[in-house]
Amino acid sequence: MDKVNAHDLVRLKREATPIVCITAYDFPTAAVVEESGVDLVLVGDTLGMVVQGHDTTLGVTVDDVVYHLRMVRRALRRPLLVGDMPFMSFQESDEATMANVGLMVKDGGAEAVKLEGARPETLRRVKMIVGAGIPVMGHLGYTPQSVHYFGRHIVRGKTVAQARVLLEHARALEDAGCFSVVLEMVPRQLAGLISRSLTIPTIGIGSGVECDGQILVLHDLVGFYRGYTPKFVRRLADVTQTMREAVTEYGELVRSGAYPGEAESVPLTDEVWEEISRLAEPPEE
Ligand code: KIV
Repeated sequence: MDKVNAHDLVRLKREATPIVCITAYDFPTAAVVEESGVDLVLVGDTLGMVVQGHDTTLGVTVDDVVYHLRMVRRALRRPLLVGDMPFMSFQESDEATMANVGLMVKDGGAEAVKLEGARPETLRRVKMIVGAGIPVMGHLGYTPQSVHYFGRHIVRGKTVAQARVLLEHARALEDAGCFSVVLEMVPRQLAGLISRSLTIPTIGIGSGVECDGQILVLHDLVGFYRGYTPKFVRRLADVTQTMREAVTEYGELVRSGAYPGEAESVPLTDEVWEEISRLAEPPEE
């Protein structure tokens, strides 16, 4: 497939091809992600935790996301690039929402935006953004921007009442024009039911195999985050250990004088060195 757009993801769902999504926050990681053949890259507000070292995503600003989008943009060719709308960037007013979306797309190079929740106001703004020609991804289930309201890492949809609300919200996001919906920490069977009820793809994170695609935070996947790692994460590499070993060895080499060696130093011809070495000699009387 050539460059992925929002419609391609809907087609992948129709063809029952699982959609591969991942986060990235900077040029080198985005370059790796590009080479790995994923379909969608999210510059998520998780950058507040895995890059900036905060406990929650709440402090992340539009400028932060735009800053990281620009780095990722330079490395990406094929995947769809989605920018996460940070906490309070789409809650305030229509004008502020559109201005922030504009920054994501025009300054950051995002090709779509993601926003959490499905309150009536949010649904109205989804319509407004889609109306401006910008694809929108929804996000339901555990929504980290509501951490002070719902608590941390809480599974959504474990009761019939919650399941009904989730299904209603997912349908409402589809009706509002979203091209996909992230389902975070929703029970597998319910995530499957929601997926089968929508024509747009569901992208699961901790929501089981019945979603139309999956997303993980890159730093969790490759073992590059030291904070809380949810149970649903499958860590497929230990980048922290690899880096720690490399930096420790570097320290040993520097302290023992084994680094840098000749090959890692700037060369000088013998003739030039002979002249230069005399520069420090005391001038003749
Ligand atoms: O911010 C983020 O990285 C996300 C994903 C976990 C879906 O919202």
